Formats: sequence, structure tokens, C-alpha cells
Amino acid sequence: MMNVAITGSGGFIGSHLVKRLKMFGHRVAPLQHYLFTQDGVDCLTQALVGCHAVINLAGAPINRRWTDAYKKELVESRVMTTRKLVEAVNRLHEPPEVMISASAVGYYGPSSGCHGEQDAPEADSFLAELCVAWEKEAGLVNGSVRLVLTRFGVVLSPDGGALPEMMRPARFGVMASAGNPDHLFSWVALEDLVDALVFIMGREGISGPVNITAPERTSNREFYRAAAEHFHTRLSIHIPDAVLRLLMGEASQVITGGRCALPETLMREGFQFQYPDILTFFNKAFSVSS
Ligand SMILES: NC(=O)c1ccc[n+]([C@@H]2O[C@H](COP(=O)([O-])OP(=O)(O)OC[C@H]3O[C@@H](n4cnc5c(N)ncnc54)[C@H](OP(=O)(O)O)[C@@H]3O)[C@@H](O)[C@H]2O)c1
Repeated sequence: MMNVAITGSGGFIGSHLVKRLKMFGHRVAPLQHYLFTQDGVDCLTQALVGCHAVINLAGAPINRRWTDAYKKELVESRVMTTRKLVEAVNRLHEPPEVMISASAVGYYGPSSGCHGEQDAPEADSFLAELCVAWEKEAGLVNGSVRLVLTRFGVVLSPDGGALPEMMRPARFGVMASAGNPDHLFSWVALEDLVDALVFIMGREGISGPVNITAPERTSNREFYRAAAEHFHTRLSIHIPDAVLRLLMGEASQVITGGRCALPETLMREGFQFQYPDILTFFNKAFSVSS
């Protein structure tokens, strides 16, 4: 049994992770928002006493229009939270064994292949700069703490996140696709992501950057085809990049960017994906939720 402290515990991923950890018999300490808005880190340090693991998921939602002010919030909600968390961890006489800090495949640039964990970040991209700054802050944690920087693909679940919004037109028999059909799209099922976080927490040999993405290389075409088959849609429309950009501004690059990352470490360590490919995801995840 481990004591696990979590930032962002009330969010989409955090709330599912909390349930999973409790199911495995771990004790969870949610690190509430107010602990990070106070001057100093005394209360936060106190909240961390006795923790064996810290999981850092906090961050303002990415799927909003990125005005200059909101970009600042996206960065500060991650970088400042992580800075305070690290400061508090570094003050502990008995630091946790492991700190898992979230990041995203937005770290990597678009490419025709798939990125490995040692690949360099994308140049001149807001998303990559955000991930680099976020990871750099986590990297300042005391060297005795095993640090894992988990880069998530788009997290798919029928119960929340991006997918229900993306599939809304399917209710009316329409599949609305976006992005270059040939671009690869990195995703991971919520259950696999949560299980991977628990797996990483218990594996002493894992440290450094870890991609948490499904092992299958999925193109946008394959993703929308699997979705259309699953929902029996009769009509397909493609939303041009220019229209998405008009609707979402720069944030549209999350959908149109085409990033792919392989879960090299998880595969090497023998992690078993329940949803390794997109057809399995649609068949299994929706039958479980319905
Ligand atoms: N979902 C995805 O597809 C995906 C993909 C790649 C990376 N990620 C990253 O994974 C992390 C968790 O994602 P999620 O989907 O669970 O996000 P979420 O549902 O938006 O939850 C994020 C949590 O962050 C905290 N938060 C929100 N605004 C904040 C702010 N301004 N300052 C400090 N904390 C704030 C909240 O924690 P409290 O509940 O404690 O208030 C919130 O519950 C995020 O950092 C996200 O960028 C997610």
C-alpha cells in the first residue's frame, strides 16, 4: 500500500486515477488548488509528509481559444504548480520515492514517422515550449526522487475528455473528420493511461520521459473510419483546417498537428495494453460504458 499525493485529482484523468488507486488499496491525498495559491509552501509541504508517490496532473484546459492571456494561464497553471510542488518535495526530510509529472506528445513535432522518448522537442511551437517548460520545472526535484515525465497522447474515453465532443455529430448520422487523413494521431484509452500510471509508480526501473500512447500507429483516416463504422454513420464530412482555425484559433493545431509517439518504455517493460488499437478501443470501450 502506498500513500499517493495527486494534483489535478478532480479532473478527467485524476478522478479516474483516484478510483483505480483506491481499488488497488492505495491511500490518496488530493493536493487541492488552494495549496498552490498561498504564499509559501508550508501547507503543501505538510500535506506531502508521509507520501510515497506524487502524481502531478494539474493544468488549465488546453481545448480553449488560445488568446495571449489564456496562453499565459496554460503555462502558469502548469509551471507554477509544478514549481511549488517541487519546492515542497525538496523540503521534505523523507521525500517520496517517485514523482510522476504529466506532459504531452505535443512535446514532439509533426513527422511522417513516430517519435521515440529521446527525440528532441518541436522547434517554434507553443505546445512544445509549454511541455519543455513544464518538464524542466519537474526536473528540479531532488535527485533522490525517481522522476518520470509522462507524455500523454489524446486520452480517449466515452465518459469524458475530447472524444464525446468529437463524436457529437455521429448522433445525427454524420462523421465530421478533421486534419490531414494521412497524418498519424497519438491517442491512449483512459483505462490504459490510468493503469500505466499505476504500473510506472510501482516499477523502480522506470525514470525519465515515458510516452503513454497506444502502441498502434493510427492515422486520422483510420481513426475516423473506425469511429464511423462503430457509430454506423451515413454521411462523412471533412472540416478543412482553415475552418477549424477560424473556430478554434491556434488551438486547432492540437487536432490538425499530426503527432505520433511510441510507448517505447512501456512496451520494453512489458506493460499490457487493454486497448492496443483503435478498432479494439471503439468495440470494447463503448460496450463497457453502454
Ligand atoms: N486529457 C488529455 O487528452 C490529455 C492529453 C495530454 C496531456 N494531458 C494533461 O494531463 C493533465 C490532466 O488532464 P485532464 O484531461 O484530467 O485535465 P482536466 O480534466 O482539465 O483536469 C485538470 C485539473 O487541473 C487543475 N487545474 C485546472 N485549472 C487549473 C489552474 N488554472 N491552475 C492550477 N490547476 C488547475 C484542476 O485540478 P483540481 O481538480 O484539483 O481543481 C483540474 O481538475 C493536464 O495537465 C493535461 O494537460 C491531458
